[in-house]
Amino acid sequence: MRGQSFMDAILHGIAPSNEQVAAYLNAFHHRMPGITSEIMLGLRTTDGRTSYDVVADCIAASQPSSILDIGCGDGELLAAMHSRCPGAALTGIDLSAEELTLAAARFDQRKADLRLAPATALPFADGAFAAVAAHLVFMLIPQVGDALREVHRVLAASGTFAFLLPRPPKQPTNLTALLEKLTRKLAIRYPDFTPFAIGDRALFERFGIADLLVRAGFTTLPRFEDFEVHATLDGESLWRAISGRYVLGSLDEELTAELRAIVLSTASSGAFDYSESLRLVAIVR
Ligand SMILES: C[S@@+](CC[C@H](N)C(=O)[O-])C[C@H]1O[C@@H](n2cnc3c(N)ncnc32)[C@H](O)[C@@H]1O
Repeated sequence: MRGQSFMDAILHGIAPSNEQVAAYLNAFHHRMPGITSEIMLGLRTTDGRTSYDVVADCIAASQPSSILDIGCGDGELLAAMHSRCPGAALTGIDLSAEELTLAAARFDQRKADLRLAPATALPFADGAFAAVAAHLVFMLIPQVGDALREVHRVLAASGTFAFLLPRPPKQPTNLTALLEKLTRKLAIRYPDFTPFAIGDRALFERFGIADLLVRAGFTTLPRFEDFEVHATLDGESLWRAISGRYVLGSLDEELTAELRAIVLSTASSGAFDYSESLRLVAIVR
């Protein structure tokens, strides 16, 4: 029935409510905890780094004494930051209990402070952290202005905030062509479906990001680093990467089987050049 869940809403071209988005993300990460790092660790920059390395290198440049990871998931970014800043006190928050369980297993010995909390209401004092980081999270938050204000509040003076976002590629890629093909297939059953961005579309443009940061209280200019991460994938790995995406990984069995067949035939040569366009945003408070 229309509008009853996030998937019902978007398949019928209706904007989901913030509550539907939160419930959907929670159910998705309950079903597939650790999926983001599983996919992203297989993708590399031209100089061989993962996207976690790119964020962690940026944070490590100031050797902060304390770091908060927002939407820390299974703790992959926390681990990358720990290896570069072993003395830093680590804190992670996430909305998914299953993701936090994976992170807790990883940090058993090292005692990272991991908490179930929303990015829009951080349970920390003003100025509590020397650095704040996030990897592929802010594009998922409908009330991103509230979340950015919270970052500004908990970040100490001169502290660095570094966060990674997806970015529309400058040129069409194999992946965008494949996603268009899958969208056309979806539109046969759901003619009103249009690809939907969960969070605030302003985050797709540098001006939009800069504007949101000013509104959140930041007074310095952000630094942007645009880059790609790549891998050559066989059919099954490509399907894992596609079915690990929001929306495409949440369809009924019949549609899932149809999309899987398209993906496997697209990679039938066994070598699909997969690339994601990403943007690191870094700003000092
Ligand atoms: C794409 S995953 C990224 C996980 C991890 N940062 C990584 O890259 O491996 C997004 C994560 O953000 C969390 N998340 C989404 N919305 C959130 C919110 N409003 N507050 C806190 N966490 C949120 C999800 O539960 C999920 O773990």
